[in-house]
Amino acid sequence: MAKPLYLVKIGGSVITDTTRITTSRKGEILRLVDEIIRAKEKGGFDLIIGNGGGSFGHIIAKQYNVQEGLLSSESYRGALMVHEAVSKLNSEIVDIALEKNFYLFPFAPSSFAYSADRRIVEGDISPIKRAIEKGFIPIVYGDTMIDSQRGVTIISTEEVFRFISMQMKPEKIIVGTEVDGVFDKNPDENRDARLVEKINSDNIHSVLSSTDGAKKIDVTGGMKSKLSILYEMVKSSNSTGYIANANTPGVIEKLLLSEKVACTTVNP
Ligand code: IPE
Repeated sequence: MAKPLYLVKIGGSVITDTTRITTSRKGEILRLVDEIIRAKEKGGFDLIIGNGGGSFGHIIAKQYNVQEGLLSSESYRGALMVHEAVSKLNSEIVDIALEKNFYLFPFAPSSFAYSADRRIVEGDISPIKRAIEKGFIPIVYGDTMIDSQRGVTIISTEEVFRFISMQMKPEKIIVGTEVDGVFDKNPDENRDARLVEKINSDNIHSVLSSTDGAKKIDVTGGMKSKLSILYEMVKSSNSTGYIANANTPGVIEKLLLSEKVACTTVNP
């Protein structure tokens, strides 16, 4: 019988230093790769990993406004500079896993899909499916993308997951960030902000309306957009989503093994 499919995103703020352009946090990548290896050894699930761009993606994208499209001849340079940088970060992860004999197979979203006004509308994920069948663990990432309306844009890992989940129906979607989940107020500004433990059709609209986009440079829209895409995914695949703190050791491993952690759980 086919194993259940889990999607896990490792946020760019966890694996990079967001204050320094193109600076990865190797120690965190190593720790997270170890957590995923341990969970995968124990758990009977298939897996697709996604990594955020952090300071490899957002800073250059913002400089050239790549998310807005082909605005001038400089946009071409920016589009490729972002793609090159996020591909390098992805390679670092693949290399670290390879050292541990854990075989992540990289798929650049810009090579298998395109978007229309920032939403992926067409792509071919059959190589990803085949890679899983053959025993690899596919890894995708937030990337520059050819866009039929804008020329180019930037798509987040969540948007790539949304496209994949329409066709592969994951059972679990884990979004690892640098906070414990979704809060009822911005936790950086309000000391009494409380974690919203459960989100579903009853409270999704009120939670979304009180959730901010990102304060720091984030061309893909911060927590609001993460949550809204995640909710769309769990609805379309009837799965469970988790927004959790990947900076806290053990959290990603526990979620993969269905152990309890403090986080936000999202259901249809
Ligand atoms: C961002 O991807 C990709 C680029 C800026 C090129 P994500 O939106 O998935 O990355 P993080 O997790 O916010 O860094």
